[in-house]
Formats: sequence, structure tokens, C-alpha cells
Amino acid sequence: MVYVWSIVCFAGLVMALATLLMVAARVLVNYGVCKLDINAGEKPLEVEGGQTLLSALYANEIFIPSACGGKGSCGHCKITVTGGGGPVLPTETPYLDRKEIRANLRLACQVKIREDVFVRIPADLLNVKMFDATVASATQLTHDIKEIRMKLDEPAEISQRPGQYVQVQAPSDEGPVFRAYSISSAAHEPDVVELVVRLVPDGIGSTYLHNLNPGDKVNFTGPYGEFYLNEDPSVEIVCVGGGCGMAPMKNIIDTLYHRWPERTCWLFFGCRTTQDVFYLDRWQKLAEQHPNFHVIYALSDKLQDGEKWDGETGFIHLSVDKYLEEGIPRQAFLCGPPLMIEAVTRTLTAKGLKPEDIFYDEF
Ligand SMILES: Cc1cc2nc3c(=O)[nH]c(=O)nc-3n(C[C@H](O)[C@H](O)[C@H](O)COP(=O)(O)OP(=O)(O)OC[C@H]3O[C@@H](n4cnc5c(N)ncnc54)[C@H](O)[C@@H]3O)c2cc1C
Ligand code: FES
Repeated sequence: MVYVWSIVCFAGLVMALATLLMVAARVLVNYGVCKLDINAGEKPLEVEGGQTLLSALYANEIFIPSACGGKGSCGHCKITVTGGGGPVLPTETPYLDRKEIRANLRLACQVKIREDVFVRIPADLLNVKMFDATVASATQLTHDIKEIRMKLDEPAEISQRPGQYVQVQAPSDEGPVFRAYSISSAAHEPDVVELVVRLVPDGIGSTYLHNLNPGDKVNFTGPYGEFYLNEDPSVEIVCVGGGCGMAPMKNIIDTLYHRWPERTCWLFFGCRTTQDVFYLDRWQKLAEQHPNFHVIYALSDKLQDGEKWDGETGFIHLSVDKYLEEGIPRQAFLCGPPLMIEAVTRTLTAKGLKPEDIFYDEF
């Protein structure tokens, strides 16, 4: 009994001291104004010390990807800190491998500004902007997926590549939060950003987006993302996904056929039931116009009595295995849950695709 009490007292004492230190750090420590140097003098800033690097950059309209809103749980806010960031924190190590730590990568939301800080930010990220937009249409695609099309107000145009995403600002009880959504509209429609959003029960961002109506105003930052479509038209494109993973693939395929009407592209889309099928008519029409476009939908659950389905059945990697021949130069883009991505990656690797030709977004 005495032993248990000593452990409880010790734990209580440690927690009280930790809280005291946090309060003291907030109230007593004043770091003053610090220099925040971006790309060796390209953009020198002066910022209030004590805030996180992510907040300081955001206040200066430099929008780093931050899908978890700075909570240290998404690992998206990696930037290179060459000086003044202090040691790598235990909250960062789950998201940084040894190579990244050696290359001075840090999570911007975890680095606190206590002295002059020196960072390197790629040009792509410095070009990310905050957009004001108006909802043009909101269309229910399935029981839990909606297409939300927005017309850009200010800036009036976005320069995006297929596979990129925006971070939508959604209101919450604790202030605005940001959530990542892939752009489903094609790059040749610069005045529009369209999203395909699955409703997550009690989810802040997806509920906000599902409740939007035409005329509503929306803010988002973007575009983000590293995917580059292979420019060689002889390389086949393979898109594999399920659910709201359709969003980036719609952008890729529409952009592809706008630029290369003859190019070969495969779309494999996995659904659980016929209730989850959407955009199939749209893709079948596109396949009539472009004979090198192949669309394959597969249902993973059993059909209900009386239900009709003339597409594929089983998990989507089985269809990929069935239709794709080996040894053809291809670039693949996968989007969906981690288990699907793992299974499809194994199948594509067995077909001869190299890891550097397989890109994926897990969500
Ligand atoms: C690069 C990128 C692109 C993305 N693109 C899209 C897109 O095109 N369309 C789209 O719909 N989503 C997309 N997402 C996912 C999206 O960013 C949100 O994570 C998702 O909408 C849930 O956010 P929320 O605010 O509604 O839920 P939250 O408020 O964050 O979460 C509510 C609860 O649901 C759980 N939860 C969170 N996410 C999921 C999930 N996906 N499934 C089940 N439970 C969950 C949480 O653990 C929590 O308990 C993308 C994510 C990334 C990283
Ligand atoms: S913003 Fe998510 S880990 Fe930093």
C-alpha cells in the first residue's frame, strides 16, 4: 500500500512541476522579437518569439501544409531549419526518419521560436496562397460523398497540378481548423476548385463542407503536393482508388485527356456495394471518346438479392492484377485506405513498376 502511495505522490509531484514549468514559460519568459530568415536572406522577417514556427509563418502568409492544424499528429509541416530551432523534440521523432533529421528537417508546428531562426522553404510552398471562394454547386454523389464546386473570388485563379490538394478552413469550437482535400477539378479550369468529400461522422471539416450550399463563402490555402504527372505520352497512367480517393484521380484523368487525347490510362475504382458507385457514367462516356481510356469498377461486398452488376467483383488489387500486362512503362497514382494501397503496390511491383513510379495519398 505504502508502495502504491509513493508512486501516486511521485507522479502527482512530477505533473505539478511540469504544469508549473509550462505556466512559467508562458507567463514569465519573453523571447522578444526574433529574426526569421527564409532561404538565406530571400525573405527576412521579424516575428514575436514564443510562438511556433508554423504560427509565425502563417501570420506572414506563408502557408505550410498542416492537416492536423498544428497538433503534431499529421507530420505534414516538415521544413528545413538550418539554425536556431533547438534540438529535435520527442514529439517530432515519430514523423522524421534518420535521413530527414540529418537533413535538418523539422515539424514547423513543434519548433518554438526562442532565438533567430533560419529556414529553407521550397519555391512551391512560398507560392501557396489563401483563397476566398463561393460555392457554385453541392451535389450528393452517394449516401456519404458530396461534390462541392467553388468559384474563386480572390485570387480569381489558381495554378495547380493534378494530384495537388488545398487546406479548407472550417470553423470549430476551438477556433478555425484546416483540413486537406484533393482538388478534383482539372488544371485547365483555373477559376474553379472542386472537391469530392466523404462525410466522417462527427468530423469537423467534412461536416462543414457537407453543410455548404450554393452562395456560401469558403476560405482555403493551396495548392500543396509533390505529385508530377509523367510528361512522356508513351508512359501509361494507372489510377487506383476507392471512395473520396476519386478526387485526385478525376483531376489527373481530365487533365490527361485535355492534353493527350490518345494517351493510355487505366482507372480502377473499388467500391463496397452498388450504393458506393459514382461517376461511372461519366467515365464510360469518356471511354467512348478516348479508346485508350479503360475504366474498371469492382464491388468488394456480395450483391444483395435481385441486385444487378456487370462490373468486376472482389478487392480492387485483383482487378489490377487481372487487366494489366507486365513490363509496360507506367506511372501509377493510388488513393485510398492504407490496406488498399499496400495490396495495390504489391500487385503493381509484381507487374514491373518501380517504387519511384508509384505515388500514393492515404486517406
Ligand atoms: C493530402 C490529403 C488529401 C485528402 N483529400 C481528401 C479528399 O479529397 N476527400 C476527403 O473526403 N478527404 C480527404 N482527406 C481527408 C481529410 O483531410 C480529413 O481528414 C477528413 O475529411 C476528416 O476530417 P474531419 O475534420 O471531418 O474529421 P475530424 O474532426 O478530423 O475527425 C473526427 C473523428 O473521425 C476520425 N477520422 C478522421 N478522419 C477519418 C477518416 N478519413 N475515416 C474515418 N474516421 C476518421 C477521427 O479519428 C476523429 O475521431 C485528405 C487528407 C489528406 C492528408
Ligand atoms: S501540422 Fe500536423 S504535424 Fe505539424
